[in-house]
Amino acid sequence: MEIQLTVNGTSRAFVVEPADTLLHVLRREGFLGVKHGCEDGSCGMCAVILDGRVVNSCTMLAAQAEGKPITTIEGIGTRDALHPLQAAFVEVGAVQCGYCTPAMILAAKALLDQNPHPTEAEVRDALSGVLCRCTGYVKPVEAIMRVVNHRGDLGQGEVRDAATVQ
Ligand code: FES
Ligand code: FES
Repeated sequence: MEIQLTVNGTSRAFVVEPADTLLHVLRREGFLGVKHGCEDGSCGMCAVILDGRVVNSCTMLAAQAEGKPITTIEGIGTRDALHPLQAAFVEVGAVQCGYCTPAMILAAKALLDQNPHPTEAEVRDALSGVLCRCTGYVKPVEAIMRVVNHRGDLGQGEVRDAATVQ
């Protein structure tokens, strides 16, 4: 069957099987930042932002995502122009093996899009669905709070990007 998905702002047709999960379709199509973990909704590695909410792409069918904007880590910043969250993760050393990092950044982005000035407790809560095997939560929280606390120092474009880049 053919479905129309909008991934990182680009809408196009995807040929899928009815039982294909969104995780499998995205990875098959080259969005390898969507990580393959438990495949049962426990680890959060496969997170994407769907219609403004963080979802585990392994627990939904690709067809269920039709008509809703999907954001993967590939849609946030570029190698040469990192998103402020990505830059902060690098600056504070919040990346260990890196397997959970895309999901953490997507979870943080979804939070900041809804609540530009979260408390540290709210940041921790937003990350709670992402299980880091390296037990690295201190630095990711520090990185996200750095973005929260320095938003006033960012230029207009960067503030907009921090809040709304798909
Ligand atoms: S791979 Fe989807 S929650 Fe673990
Ligand atoms: S940095 Fe290794 S799983 Fe989180």
